[in-house]
Amino acid sequence: MIKMTKEEKYRYIEQARPDELEKLQKQVERCPWRQNYHIQPQTGLLNDPNGFSYYNGMYHLFYQWFPFGPEHGMKYWFHTVSKDLCTWENVGIGIKPGDSYDSHGVYSGSAIVKDEKLYLMYTGNTRDENWVRHPFQCMAYMNESGVIQKLTNPVISTVPNGYTDHFRDPKVWKKDDTYFCIIGAQRKNKTGCAVLYKSSDLMNWEFRGELETTLPSNFGYMWECPDYFELEEHGILLFSPQGLEAEGEKYQNIYQSGYLVGKPLDLETRKFCHDVFHELDRGFDFYAQHTTLSEDGRRLLIGWMGLPDLAYPTDQNGWAHCLTIPRQLEIREGKLIQQPISELMKLRKNERQARFTLENERKKVKEFSGLSYELIYEIENIQARYIGIEFRAKDQEKTVFFYDSIKKELVLDRSLSGKSLEAENGNIRRCSFSASKLKIQLFVDVSSVEIFINDGEEVFTSRIFPSPHSKEVYFFTENGSATFQAVQWSYE
Ligand code: FRU
Repeated sequence: MIKMTKEEKYRYIEQARPDELEKLQKQVERCPWRQNYHIQPQTGLLNDPNGFSYYNGMYHLFYQWFPFGPEHGMKYWFHTVSKDLCTWENVGIGIKPGDSYDSHGVYSGSAIVKDEKLYLMYTGNTRDENWVRHPFQCMAYMNESGVIQKLTNPVISTVPNGYTDHFRDPKVWKKDDTYFCIIGAQRKNKTGCAVLYKSSDLMNWEFRGELETTLPSNFGYMWECPDYFELEEHGILLFSPQGLEAEGEKYQNIYQSGYLVGKPLDLETRKFCHDVFHELDRGFDFYAQHTTLSEDGRRLLIGWMGLPDLAYPTDQNGWAHCLTIPRQLEIREGKLIQQPISELMKLRKNERQARFTLENERKKVKEFSGLSYELIYEIENIQARYIGIEFRAKDQEKTVFFYDSIKKELVLDRSLSGKSLEAENGNIRRCSFSASKLKIQLFVDVSSVEIFINDGEEVFTSRIFPSPHSKEVYFFTENGSATFQAVQWSYE
């Protein structure tokens, strides 16, 4: 792939060459890996979800968007809306870059409702003539007619002493009468952290200082997209630290995303007493998650199903990445549980069921097939060592997920999934897991899979790039037997 020059990457959409976007759109339409039910860009590159909120009778979700190709260039906030969290409608560009404080991109941020308006707080990215970055924290608001207006000036114009220009992604919330926001930051000594600000009106922000965690001070070199909220009397901090070294089965992706569960953050002292850092997802493609409250008070999470700095097969077709399905969060025994939202059941069509026992066999379930579907299987009487599923399969192609009951681990293998991805990211992901019964729930789309284990105790999220003919589903056991109870619904 020919990489764009800096000049090409930092163009505004108005600077598109004649027919450039129309041509790109046609190239995208020819792609065999366009998704059926995931949010994906019309053209170009999608990354972080932003400004997820419920306002004026519907859900609003924005995402980072670069229109001209599968590259990280001039970023926009693209706006989508949904009434039911299942089907999303494209509204168009939500926030455009181009002012002195966001001349080089409208970077990630969050939303909050105040005085009947939806306030959108984001990082304005700028570069000076020497290409040195200067970040600003900016504000825009949407009124009830859906018109979005930027404020004339940033609400936080400087980076406090002690931090580099990697200072971005404000997540705002309200406690009693006060607004707070946390921002992802890098200390001057090149270690990552999150800092806290406080405001009475969303316009004037007071720098309070760093969140004091008990993590080692060199836990990554930058924390992107921090998110803080309280859930069932716990304080939860989510963030995407960059620069953690792989450690056994942990931190296998080039950048990580995870969470800390603790006591509610002390907003005065900024002390956060918490347990160990857990990864949010065990798959290959998950980053920059973002949460909001649903209309009925559930904490919902959406992530970017992709990672920075990696090439993907759809690049050839002029687009890259999608968002995950929304997940609902709960706490169980100090761990964050992530379940697919129940609203998705609305997408279920054409139910098929199967029950069978396998002993050292591989069985094709003829009734099950497809490109986009939900499939749940429960495994009982586990006597075998390996118990698993092969899906999006045909001939040599397949994506494999199995449980190893001796090693007590779950394994996702995409080495034969289709068009391969960059070797440096690997083809196998594992996660220790011990259970006498397993419930596996897969959400398969044309080029992705999200696997929820035992009602959200673990999740594996991955892009896969199979041929459109690879639709078959097999189940197998090795070294013994197990009983499967399975059901599939089409989402096409
Ligand atoms: C994370 C991130 C954010 C930034 C945005 C830019 O993927 O790097 O830190 O705001 O993407 O698109």
